[in-house]
Amino acid sequence: LAGCGDKDAAGGSDDGKLVMGFSQVGAESGWRTANTNDIKAAAPAAGIELKFSDAQGKQENQISAIRGFITQKVDVIAFSPVVTSGWDAVLKEAKDADIPVILTDRAVDSQDTSLYKTFLGSDFVKEGKEAGDWLVKDSAGKTGPINVVELQGTTGAAPAIDRQKGFADAIAANPNIKIVKSQTGDFKRADGKTVMEQFLQSTPKIDVLYAHNDDMGLGAIEAIEAAGKVPGKDIKIITVDAVKDGMTALAAGKINYIVECSPLLGTQLMELAKKVHAGESVEQRILTQETTFTQEQAKAALPDRKY
Ligand code: AHR
Repeated sequence: LAGCGDKDAAGGSDDGKLVMGFSQVGAESGWRTANTNDIKAAAPAAGIELKFSDAQGKQENQISAIRGFITQKVDVIAFSPVVTSGWDAVLKEAKDADIPVILTDRAVDSQDTSLYKTFLGSDFVKEGKEAGDWLVKDSAGKTGPINVVELQGTTGAAPAIDRQKGFADAIAANPNIKIVKSQTGDFKRADGKTVMEQFLQSTPKIDVLYAHNDDMGLGAIEAIEAAGKVPGKDIKIITVDAVKDGMTALAAGKINYIVECSPLLGTQLMELAKKVHAGESVEQRILTQETTFTQEQAKAALPDRKY
């Protein structure tokens, strides 16, 4: 007899539910926690059995989780790839086993797009561009040098690559805006603090911090305050995500601008899983709807912020 939750011969669990194997990046940020909570809530609400695996930031853990899902013959595999490259072999194994794969949040660089059914998530290049556009507007009329330090996300991850590019493109026509330091803080608050401490020690004049997520920005704020400077004033701060902690710092004037990246992908993901399992065609790329926040907009939005 199959155990509870085992897949029967016709697919699905033995109680007839569609089974999804989901490999999450880890728990590096407030965004990630909100994303995990949303997916865990959306699965039962959609009548889907979720097998959830936390890769703790390691690609090898994600690859073995995906191989495990293939062995367990889940109906659909979904994952948020920690980095963009190195997925072809395991995605081919899933394809050979006839298990559809959905990418959520982050992209892979596989040339063969038949290895996955769809990619649901944000346009990270656009997010970086919006961050840069804000700085260009804020710097209008200033002719002296504007020194920017950048806290990058996880090296090799799609949001780090794309947010760096979008920002660089947006400021390119303004030679007085210069990225004087750029280093990874791995999307983590503690790393954001440590790297910002190093930036402050090595760089006499920092005008702006661009952090690829709120958490690194919040860590950097601790370093800036410890160095006797006023975040949001002495050093302007732009971040991405708009999680509650980030929005609170924005409303308090410690961050100047946040570009939203929505972690609430669960409901759409479950709908897509049902469709690909039923053999229906879905769009290859599904973009998440998101916005941007000034300090005033953050004050207005905070009371209703869900994550
Ligand atoms: O992939 C989305 C990014 O990953 C979020 O911006 C960041 O906070 C997270 O860790």
